[in-house]
Amino acid sequence: MKISPFKIEEWMNMYEKGALYDLTTTCIKPLSIYELLELSGMQSIPIFERSLDYGSITGSERLKYAIQSLYTNQELKNITVTHGAIGANQLIFYSLLEPGDEVVCVVPAYQQHYSIPESIGANVKLYFLKEENNWLPDMEELSQVVTSKTKLLCLNNPNNPTGAVIPNWLLEEIAEFAKKNHVWVLSDEVYRGLNLIGHPYSTSIADLYERGISVGSMSKTYSLPGLRVGWVCAREDLINEINHQRQYNTISVSILDEYFASVALENRDKIAERNFDIMRSGIDIFTSWLANEELAKCIIPNGGTTAFVKYQKDMTSRNLCKRLQNRTGVALLPGETMEMEGYVRIGYCATALNHALNLFSEYLHS
Ligand SMILES: Cc1ncc(COP(=O)(O)O)c(C=O)c1O
Repeated sequence: MKISPFKIEEWMNMYEKGALYDLTTTCIKPLSIYELLELSGMQSIPIFERSLDYGSITGSERLKYAIQSLYTNQELKNITVTHGAIGANQLIFYSLLEPGDEVVCVVPAYQQHYSIPESIGANVKLYFLKEENNWLPDMEELSQVVTSKTKLLCLNNPNNPTGAVIPNWLLEEIAEFAKKNHVWVLSDEVYRGLNLIGHPYSTSIADLYERGISVGSMSKTYSLPGLRVGWVCAREDLINEINHQRQYNTISVSILDEYFASVALENRDKIAERNFDIMRSGIDIFTSWLANEELAKCIIPNGGTTAFVKYQKDMTSRNLCKRLQNRTGVALLPGETMEMEGYVRIGYCATALNHALNLFSEYLHS
């Protein structure tokens, strides 16, 4: 099976490790196991005594109960555990799509959402969000692209890279429209729980709409990307099909990873307290930098961990990021890797953000 190069992952593999100031990051300072245990007030780690068998094949009950508590309307049979959100997305596409199916992807978003369907032979249409709409889908525009021929609509809410959060009323309109057209909606919700305005958790598409598919993960909201634990929450028949596909590429997720993921979700309020401190401090630094930088424009994120900045410099985003990193050690993600030229993505929860943004400014003015 042929598939397009994954532009973000290729870029990160090349540039992230060599950076002095890594602003390509989408994580909120990943936790160590010791930090997790300290936050959770745990003295011992009983899992270390357990033999390392395969565990429960579709996810331990403990973890599934913890995941269930993130939703209002779901049972354990609506949940399956995967190797990260990346494993979840892939399994959904393999389970739902056939060559010739029509898929609409709201972009910019994670490239998996369109490149895997393309590789399966689906007819993929991209719907580009616009800055003048605050990076939110416009129902009139969306209804021109999504039709009764469409099988699947893919969204990312909160959005990476723009930090836009689809308000619940708009999500309801999308669900209503999808229902009329019998369209499945995959909402990649790996940043769910990180809204800076209003309730931290938006309504999940799975709780709104019977063909709504929610993808979640430990990587962003819970600061544990190294656990490689994600999940799908969806209608039982789709979960059954995913579990069938899943036997060929997952068997089970590591019982150690599942154990620590359960501990983290059971203590998510404490992780949230820590993470919102980092996010608020990052957004304050970013906002005051932006107010003083005439060569950068951006809609301030309402959630997630990234901001999407339009820069004024006569240079492609790839060249800008390459030269900026060579000269200053600051790594940013070129918008072109997310199909949006003229922008760069900034992870505002990064370490030494203030200094790195000042170096970026110096470069923009040079
Ligand atoms: C929107 C989105 N979906 C999925 C992923 C993959 O997440 P995971 O680490 O859980 O596999 C990422 C990672 O950056 C992401 O930004």
